[in-house]
Amino acid sequence: MLKEKIKKELHSFKLENRFRKLNLLENNSFNLSSNDYMGLGNDPDLVKEFYDSYPNLTLSSGSSRLISGSYPLIMELEDYAEKIYNKPTLFFNSGFDCNCCIIETFCDEDTLVISDKLNHASIHDGIMHSKANLIRYKHLDLNHLKNILEKNKNKFKNIFVISETIYSMDGDCVNLEELIKLKKNFNFYLILDEAHSFGVHSYGIAHEKNLIEQVDFLVIPLGKGGGSIGSYLVCNQLYKDYIVNRGRKFIYTTALPPVNIAWNLFILKKIEILQKRKEKLEELTNLAHTLIKKYNLKTLSTTHIISIIIGDNNRLDKITKYLNTKNYFVYGVKEPTVPKGTSRIRIGLSPSIPKDYIIDFFKELNYALNTFF
Ligand SMILES: Cc1ncc(COP(=O)(O)O)c(C=O)c1O
Repeated sequence: MLKEKIKKELHSFKLENRFRKLNLLENNSFNLSSNDYMGLGNDPDLVKEFYDSYPNLTLSSGSSRLISGSYPLIMELEDYAEKIYNKPTLFFNSGFDCNCCIIETFCDEDTLVISDKLNHASIHDGIMHSKANLIRYKHLDLNHLKNILEKNKNKFKNIFVISETIYSMDGDCVNLEELIKLKKNFNFYLILDEAHSFGVHSYGIAHEKNLIEQVDFLVIPLGKGGGSIGSYLVCNQLYKDYIVNRGRKFIYTTALPPVNIAWNLFILKKIEILQKRKEKLEELTNLAHTLIKKYNLKTLSTTHIISIIIGDNNRLDKITKYLNTKNYFVYGVKEPTVPKGTSRIRIGLSPSIPKDYIIDFFKELNYALNTFF
């Protein structure tokens, strides 16, 4: 029964041209699909400097944080992050775990969670695992959020609002000042996920705009602009203590090994001084947006993440295949990662990509868009 059900479902994915496969990354071109927006993870000079600074790293933590997994480097990392944000921090093995854990731990049947419709799967899963009530607001539409808050302000014991800063699939950005104004008026708890802004905006947009105090739970995943893995939560001591005592995704998992934690610490110490990289990324981003205008392409992006909506999965495959044969490593994103009918080419810029490569890429993309239907 089970096998038949699975086969049928996978067959329907194939018919709709959205059957996923793991593809070997051919290492012969720049990777336009990487989220390592600052080009840190594979930078030979940085990697060498890191191993020279930490020659004797071990490869396992051996246990969870509450047993013997709170080794000196991980405590040093949290201390260092605490000094940056001037608030307690708690390290998680991934951004996925961190989002899920906050929501599962603090939201119950007396809670209303109001979540941006395009929030990441980890946020959605956290809400599903909790017993909270859920209303989703239109993507980045703070007027819609305000209407929901007006209607529900006296109906629940607690209200949580969850947003990301820069959105991964559209490359658009929340108006954080306006969101904080709403928080002041309606007194909700705010969870803010900075997965796609850390690095590109140094320690994140909330830090850059001096709004750390206004965010109850600030989530900083390090697997993208941080060029690493893991994440940390910035919150007050009471919430931190509660997670250490009750947060299942924090408690019941083996801590990341010293090699990753030391790299996180190394990057955290460097991120603000990588000014040249940020400038280069900004230049590339401006160039890409100029080319988008030149070729009259449609995108919602205002940032280093750029999506061109194709819509039809067969057409997307033809365009992606063509670009791959031209040595551009781009990846077509389909549902359920993005809503049905909005499949797209998504690229993430990084300072290691040469300008000419971007100019040629958009020329080829424009050709493909006008050739394959
Ligand atoms: C907005 C957002 N939050 C959280 C995550 C999960 O982070 P991690 O990859 O560290 O689990 C992602 C990853 O795709 C993301 O895009």
